[in-house]
Amino acid sequence: MALPRLETLAEIEAALWRELGRAPRDKHHEWRTPVLATRDGDSADARTVVLREVDEPARTLQVFTDSRSAKVAQLLAHPQGTMVMWSSRLSWQLRLRVALQVETDGLALASRWARLKLSPAAQDYLSPLAPGSVLDGSTAAAPVVHDRGHFALINVAVQSIDWLELHADGHRRASFDAAGARWLAP
Ligand SMILES: Cc1cc2nc3c(=O)[nH]c(=O)nc-3n(C[C@H](O)[C@H](O)[C@H](O)COP(=O)(O)O)c2cc1C
Repeated sequence: MALPRLETLAEIEAALWRELGRAPRDKHHEWRTPVLATRDGDSADARTVVLREVDEPARTLQVFTDSRSAKVAQLLAHPQGTMVMWSSRLSWQLRLRVALQVETDGLALASRWARLKLSPAAQDYLSPLAPGSVLDGSTAAAPVVHDRGHFALINVAVQSIDWLELHADGHRRASFDAAGARWLAP
């Protein structure tokens, strides 16, 4: 049986943050793997990432990456991005306008790495070859300089949320940001 539709903007905002908060802890949550879009010079670029942490009160998210990846160079040049996620279970799409900041050092990074290094995923950050390196045999592999390889955090500050619900009784769309919440034409 279909769940009753949420009526108010406040209920919807609370529910979407509740769902976001579940995503990093639930491997099957569809919002665990959003698409992060960044600006690449005059073009757009986008890729799937894993949502690692969600801090609802702070309105921030966190993603792990390799500090040598193209996205890091892109967001250092243009720290604005968009994160998109869709859930068929909820019939909800979120488009988050975000400010992106990279962390390659410090306490937060060290504590995440302390946990990660015990898992096979640590290998992702220890390759001597930067992500996207052409594998033609001639690429000189840079030595790994750090015991935590090229592990980096991307701190994602959510500035606004565009929520879209697809529904047989009529689609609904709303926007949430520091100025408040409003219904939009879908
Ligand atoms: C399901 C899935 C999850 C991924 N998660 C991450 C991630 O959390 N961080 C990351 O840097 N790349 C992740 N990737 C790889 C990226 O999509 C991308 O291929 C890689 O980071 C290089 O992107 P870039 O050249 O734009 O930096 C993931 C890919 C898939 C398919």
